[in-house]
Amino acid sequence: MRVAVLSAEAVPYSKTGGLGDVAGALPKALRQVGIDAFLITPLYLQTKGADVGHPAIDDLDIEWRGGVYRAKVFYSEANGSPTFLIAAPEYFHRSAIYGFWEDYERFAFFNQASLALIKRVGAPPDIIHLNDWHCGFAAVKIAHLRFWDSYWRNPRTVFSIHNLAYQGIFDAEELWKLGFGSEFERNAFMFNGAASALKAGLAVSDMLSAVSRTYAKEIQQPENGYDLDWLLRQRSNKFFGITNGIDYDVWNPATDSQLPAHFNASDIHGKRMCKRALLDKFFLPIDLERPIFASITRLTAQKGFELIQQVAAELLATGAYFIALGSGDKSYEDFLQKLRDYAPRQVGIFKGYNEDLAHLIEAGADMFLMPSKFEPCGLNQMYSLRYGTVPIVRAVGGLEDTVQNFDVVRGKGNGYKFRELSSDKFLEKIYEALFAYYEPETWRKIQWNGMTEDNSWENAARNYVALYQMTKS
Ligand code: ADP
Ligand code: GLC
Repeated sequence: MRVAVLSAEAVPYSKTGGLGDVAGALPKALRQVGIDAFLITPLYLQTKGADVGHPAIDDLDIEWRGGVYRAKVFYSEANGSPTFLIAAPEYFHRSAIYGFWEDYERFAFFNQASLALIKRVGAPPDIIHLNDWHCGFAAVKIAHLRFWDSYWRNPRTVFSIHNLAYQGIFDAEELWKLGFGSEFERNAFMFNGAASALKAGLAVSDMLSAVSRTYAKEIQQPENGYDLDWLLRQRSNKFFGITNGIDYDVWNPATDSQLPAHFNASDIHGKRMCKRALLDKFFLPIDLERPIFASITRLTAQKGFELIQQVAAELLATGAYFIALGSGDKSYEDFLQKLRDYAPRQVGIFKGYNEDLAHLIEAGADMFLMPSKFEPCGLNQMYSLRYGTVPIVRAVGGLEDTVQNFDVVRGKGNGYKFRELSSDKFLEKIYEALFAYYEPETWRKIQWNGMTEDNSWENAARNYVALYQMTKS
């Protein structure tokens, strides 16, 4: 089976969040279970530093806006699977990966270029696997071309929802410029009087998935469905939840090249050295007995940062450290700054994006805070589990599916989990975790349970294969 995976970001070429991790790892995981998968992603200014391989095509002609756009394509295998990187400086050499007024046009172009590339490099794939709103355009194009161009008759589309909150909404007047002139295409995009690339992908793809089972259920409810729940319910026989895996080649404390010492479930000594290095990095006093609470996140409303704000004073009153790595909304960044100024000997912050530091924090911290308002899957709680850093999470989306509240009597569970979006409930779990932390045997048990959990990609890849096969039936 031949599968083309399209994604706006993919590790190691680009990343702003979990989508990058997933798109980087999935094609490799698919190949490991016998699927002939390849990846297509843009070549950004931000891709510099990654191994982009060699120029493979220097004259990819793309029908675009009434003319022909000639793009270059690079080929690399740096993520363990064949990858084509579309070079179109006009669209992708920008100061950031997202955030421009014509993002819809940039990604419509990426989709159009991807289809031209797929046709250029060989036989039609069986599956075109599309990710998030950035790839909704290709779903519509393929559904349309299927009736006109024999090349596109057989490929089936699978559309994965990583985050329903991002929808790629734009003025429907622009549709014809992007090459969507037919009534069918227009109808696919139309959503509350505007065009939505996400809605288009959900409406016309052959099969849909979301990145965890609980999130797949949540977004079929009006309160979490962003006005798209009706469509998801309508298509529920084609819609499945598949929980992401994590890439143990990149996130493994036994081999992680960012760490000063290594460790694993049965020998955790190296974690103390990582803790020391982490405190040192933030110029905090070295007291290895005191727990470190950590947070690594995009600072957006999704992540429930208000709850962290509300419990911060109580948390610091226990004597614990708090270390945060994040960037995003200014108000949250300012809060972190104030917190550090308030307790400089307990708080360490890094405002910005830093991959290496993310690894050291996962390894050196004791607890990981993730009180998300909603969380399609979440990867950091799974990285934390692997690194013996006990997650304290809210029971939503993928957090509900991957974290089980620790039960002292039965010795079962890998973290702490609360349901209600309330700082009191969050704090209760923080205290419960602290209590366990000071009982070494109990703590060791929770860590063991998390570290031995299998969240590898293999399972997820097999589930995707089953989903791909269903498109044919
Ligand atoms: P989301 O995709 O919603 O941001 P995930 O938990 O799925 O949430 O994935 C977030 C990914 O981005 C993780 O790999 C995390 O380590 C990384 N990340 C988030 N913020 C930062 C940051 N400031 N610096 C480094 N890595 C970050
Ligand atoms: C999105 C979600 C996150 C998920 C990631 C990868 O960014 O916010 O929860 O883990 O996609 O699927």
